Amino acid sequence: MLDPSLLRVVEAQAEHLQRISAELFADHTLILASNRGPVEYTMTDRGLEGHRGSGGLVTAMSAIGKYVSPRWVAAAMSEGDRVMAQTAGETALHWEHEASQFDLRFITIEPEMYQAYYGTVSNPLLWFLQHYMWDAPRTPLIDETIWAAWRDYKAVNRLFAAAIAEEVEHAPQAPIVMLHDYHLYYVPAYLRQHELPADSCITFFLHIPWPGPDYWSLLPQEMRLEVLESLTKCDILGFQTHRYLRNFLNTCLAYLPDAQIDYNQNRIVCQGHTTHLKAYPISIDVQSVIDLGNSLDVRSFRQRLRPYTGDQTIVRIDRVEPSKNIVRGFKAFELLLERYPEYIGRVKFMAILVPSRLGVEEYQRYLEEIMVVTGWINTRYGNEEWQPVELIVGENYPRAIAAMQMYDVLLVNPLIDGMNLVAKEGATVNERGGVLVLSEGAGVAEQLSDHALIISPTDIVGTMEALRQALEMSPTERHERALALREEVIREDLSMWLAHQFRDVQRLLEQRASATRKALPLVEQETSA
Ligand code: G6P
Repeated sequence: MLDPSLLRVVEAQAEHLQRISAELFADHTLILASNRGPVEYTMTDRGLEGHRGSGGLVTAMSAIGKYVSPRWVAAAMSEGDRVMAQTAGETALHWEHEASQFDLRFITIEPEMYQAYYGTVSNPLLWFLQHYMWDAPRTPLIDETIWAAWRDYKAVNRLFAAAIAEEVEHAPQAPIVMLHDYHLYYVPAYLRQHELPADSCITFFLHIPWPGPDYWSLLPQEMRLEVLESLTKCDILGFQTHRYLRNFLNTCLAYLPDAQIDYNQNRIVCQGHTTHLKAYPISIDVQSVIDLGNSLDVRSFRQRLRPYTGDQTIVRIDRVEPSKNIVRGFKAFELLLERYPEYIGRVKFMAILVPSRLGVEEYQRYLEEIMVVTGWINTRYGNEEWQPVELIVGENYPRAIAAMQMYDVLLVNPLIDGMNLVAKEGATVNERGGVLVLSEGAGVAEQLSDHALIISPTDIVGTMEALRQALEMSPTERHERALALREEVIREDLSMWLAHQFRDVQRLLEQRASATRKALPLVEQETSA
């Protein structure tokens, strides 16, 4: 149960968002765009069935639908989506889920082109680049296939821009277009080629890291330049952390010779257009995570997970994703059992892993590596009755929440991560005064580092020592840290992530409307962290 004073904080934030949305959308129409939409349709014996789209982006953006009823433009990803799109024709599909509602417009893309855009350029080329995952002496290898895929990526972005432009044309009020993530880098530039009303506003939020300029040199100059030129056609550009924002400014300084870069106001003027930059750390919908934690479903999963726990339990929950650094986490645990054999038979490591992007070879190989390392630890330190690592593979959100309630230590050790919401979800629902062992590479470390044990993700000795420190910590310190983490998360609920963005849009529109038309900074701009 959450302290009533904290619950009031959550309620106050939701009311604040409600007020801002009501004001802003009284005379504006919201258009969202992302590759993955709020719903995915699958063909079943009973016909087409819709399920909420997976992943953090969809979860966060879906919350918008509780306050506004936006148009959402997304790619038809499954065969079911394509059939739905065809059936709907020009009409938007209406989708409602847990108090959120949207009018959805699917873009149908020819499968080969989609594969190039999604399976070659977005993942792995851009994803690997932005998570420092390339093996630079060998990869990426930008050959003719990659160049052709890049052209397809641009073509898909052009389709997105055309669909959004149509939505803008039919919008009953001045449009606010909010674009999301690395699949859509060219959309701002293509959208500006359409005629847009003078009072329209384009924002872009990047959910993943933005690396420093040197790493961007792995991408050919033409690609890099076009991406930067396009992003600087937005009015507001949002990042998860101040570090990524600074990296973006540095990248523009390095590669956009004509841009004027204002490090004090976090502003770029390029080809006569001003773009305001801001960090908006994404969060979780605290109330719905708490409600789920109290549900019967989660309670029953806790019973079922009980045999997977030890006297003390280390938990991790991740997509099977190389940037999550899962293998090193297990190696640190192996070292812990080797150095401190007294933990054998007492401490378990429960890992809940969700298979992801198995069409990309590196992800398949990574899953195999995980199987090998966990098999080895269980062979070396387990026996017929007891095994140190419990590996649970598959997507099941209530089960993940149940596991988060039960940890003594939560290991979040990505090499680099846009934010990492598991750390925030865990801090909110955990019931054992659990300690967070957190990588300095996770975006969430900018907010939570004071109350977590911070590690360098490549250092398995340091990680092992942090795990030990967490397991040995006094109950008083554990509970103090856990409470501080929870308060930190609750103070910045998902509604604040949205409210800050809506408020900045509102201010920008007000400034534009004002007679001076001076490019003032967004109010409350934070210049550094
Ligand atoms: C994660 C990232 C998002 C990204 C999404 C894509 O959730 O944090 O930034 O958009 O993955 O995942 P998908 O399954 O749609 O490829």
